[in-house]
Amino acid sequence: MSVDAITFRTRKWVRPEDLNANGTLFGGSLLRWIDEEATIYAILQLGNHQVVTKYMSEIEFVSSARQGDIIEMGLRATAFGRTSLTMRAEVRNMITHRSILTVDRVVFVGLGDDGRPTPHGYTEITFDRDRIPPQTA
Ligand SMILES: CC(C)(COP(=O)(O)OP(=O)(O)OC[C@H]1O[C@@H](n2cnc3c(N)ncnc32)[C@H](O)[C@@H]1OP(=O)(O)O)[C@@H](O)C(=O)NCCC(=O)NCCS
Repeated sequence: MSVDAITFRTRKWVRPEDLNANGTLFGGSLLRWIDEEATIYAILQLGNHQVVTKYMSEIEFVSSARQGDIIEMGLRATAFGRTSLTMRAEVRNMITHRSILTVDRVVFVGLGDDGRPTPHGYTEITFDRDRIPPQTA
């Protein structure tokens, strides 16, 4: 596996409520899943519960999925900034083996208690669970 390979972690089963009027996967559902996946990834990489989506680059839906298909989503951190984390995302269809979309840059920013960007201090990806933020409650 190449050093910058995407790790596909989450799988989704396409259900009737995820379809558009054309009977294929609704783009809005897919973007919600990607945003949630990226949020979890950012929390675990930055060690901070308070992360927000700042930017998503161009998205092209190159193929789709139908009811009953299984899709998988993957992310890879590509740059650690001072307060931000940039990731690449890919979604592919496990049934047709086709890529559904890629997003070259998804940027998350870690916030402090004042709601402003806060430095995270990290420069490298962790593959462990060593940055899980402490319980907030
Ligand atoms: C996130 C937010 C606090 C950042 O505020 P800001 O004034 O832009 O902050 P800064 O200018 O200090 O930038 C913070 C980081 O974002 C990066 N950034 C800012 N604008 C960017 C853009 N258009 N594209 C990519 N990165 C960007 C900066 O480079 C900086 O990263 P770095 O510290 O790693 O260098 C503010 O824009 C915000 O609250 N946005 C709404 C977020 C939101 O509600 N998201 C959807 C729901 S989760």
